[in-house]
Amino acid sequence: MTSTVVVGGFFGDEGKGKIISYLAIKDNPKIIVRGGAGPNAGHTIRDGDKIYKVRMLPSGFLNKNAKVMIGPGVVINPDILLKEIHDFGAEGRSFVDKHCGIIEEIHRTRDSKGDLKEKIGSTGSGTGPANADRAMRILKLAKDFDSLSDLIVDVPEQINSALANNENVLIEGTQGTFLSLWHGTYPFVTSKDVTASGICADVGLGPTKVDEVIVVFKSYVTRVGTGPLAKELTPEEAEVKGWSEFGTVTGRQRRAADFDFDLARRAIMLNGATQISITKLDVLFPDCAGMTSYEKLSDEAKSFVKNIERELNTPVTIIGTGPAINDVIDRRS
Ligand code: IMP
Ligand code: MG
Repeated sequence: MTSTVVVGGFFGDEGKGKIISYLAIKDNPKIIVRGGAGPNAGHTIRDGDKIYKVRMLPSGFLNKNAKVMIGPGVVINPDILLKEIHDFGAEGRSFVDKHCGIIEEIHRTRDSKGDLKEKIGSTGSGTGPANADRAMRILKLAKDFDSLSDLIVDVPEQINSALANNENVLIEGTQGTFLSLWHGTYPFVTSKDVTASGICADVGLGPTKVDEVIVVFKSYVTRVGTGPLAKELTPEEAEVKGWSEFGTVTGRQRRAADFDFDLARRAIMLNGATQISITKLDVLFPDCAGMTSYEKLSDEAKSFVKNIERELNTPVTIIGTGPAINDVIDRRS
């Protein structure tokens, strides 16, 4: 049995969705469970010519043998969730906890104006105001909504029993370490702690039950919305490097900078990382595109990876070399 927690090491959009969908198929966990904030997250997954953009459903849904679940710490937009379950064929194997909070129209309205929108650059998804109402103890929960009644299970009980029965469980984080309400660039952060400890609390997995923590870094840093970004490139410089990206949820252009070792070192510490995943290596080194063997990487690409391992004193085990699920070098024995 292994519990594996996957979290973002920078500001979200590190490519966790693709890594999680790879692990969901490769490691065949019994349950893939999502923690994190809410539908402010966006994961893009490419399977053959199909592109999925998910905001609520765990990114591991492509493994049809696994159950996908959302932990009680997450706030849900029921319309988005039910549509994704339907559109992505995840009926009968998608579940939520009765204590998941529910985002309503009023939360989206409060999130689309004033300081949250203008100063923080929030996604407008209602996630922050819903979490604020939860802290005020006035937020409605999943158990109050008939449309969700068929989806409700006791998520902490399910994942802990799966582990007790020697099954694998994959715990999916959202956003990234420096968007954490506690550890990020406050006030330019999201409305929850999104480090590994917070994600585990969201799903009801105690600290002694965690086996592996994989921190995902992109080969460069991006950030959407406002807030500090050290050594930020101009949009033109980012374009030249091929780093122009647009947000999955908001469509906004992402700001970009070189791989940041100071941030990465702190992310390793805050998350207690046991492994590192590096994504989009092919964007830095186009000759790596689609490779699945570390030995075949160019010397330049290998030294980029080795330098990260040396500087962060943590093994780089999973490397993304392209957008498809199997564009991965997996160095776990
Ligand atoms: P909120 O989480 O919608 O309140 O937005 C707060 C800040 O976090 C804004 O700068 C958002 O752009 C950013 N943010 C929230 N979720 C994500 C994510 O999944 N990826 C990247 N940025 C995010
Ligand atoms: Mg994203």
